[in-house]
Amino acid sequence: MKFFVDTANLAQIQEAYDLGILDGVTTNPSLMAKEGISGQEAVLEHYRKICAIVDGDVSAEVIATDFEGIVKEGEALAALHPNIVVKVPMIKDGIKAIKHFSSKGIRTNCTLVFSAGQAILAAKAGATYLSPFIGRVDDISWDGMDLIDQIVHIYNFYGYKTEVLAASIRNPLHIIKCAEIGADVVTCPLNAILALLKHPLTDIGLAKFLADHKKVNS
Ligand code: E4P
Repeated sequence: MKFFVDTANLAQIQEAYDLGILDGVTTNPSLMAKEGISGQEAVLEHYRKICAIVDGDVSAEVIATDFEGIVKEGEALAALHPNIVVKVPMIKDGIKAIKHFSSKGIRTNCTLVFSAGQAILAAKAGATYLSPFIGRVDDISWDGMDLIDQIVHIYNFYGYKTEVLAASIRNPLHIIKCAEIGADVVTCPLNAILALLKHPLTDIGLAKFLADHKKVNS
């Protein structure tokens, strides 16, 4: 399972990269706004900086919602760096644009996916990645993990090439469940990745090892 970090914060991206387990980055307009990135040139420059840190796929989301606008914006993003994946919303013109990008060899991440039906359309259009949002489904008292399970089953059944990129991850259990189900990728906030490190018995065991070592070495 690939690990992406879900942020536009350069320090967090560097920290995740330095850990040695990072396979890529996803961003969205909210995450870019959180970093105060505004204006087309600043946005493009920020993606260049992310690509300079990470040797892996970097999802850059379009703002346009009409076919021509998505294509224009997506082509400009894709031209920035070979690792850029154009992130396109799950809307009618988005699906048309994904099909267009697919025929041109431009890789895409279909975002804002909340149903198996949407997942089927994105796969048929040739999306490289599909982003179902686990946390936001959980937020409305449905089960986000059921959605991942359903999509992985359908994609395996038909041999669709689109990779399931589980998004809107809120905690380490989401990551572990995605691994059990067989999601291809998880995109996570850095704190959810770091939380995977933690186990009280590791901390207790390490403290004991170090104390025992000190007893005979001081
Ligand atoms: C990923 O591609 C999405 O942009 C992101 O995971 C959304 O997460 P959120 O629901 O925590 O905002």
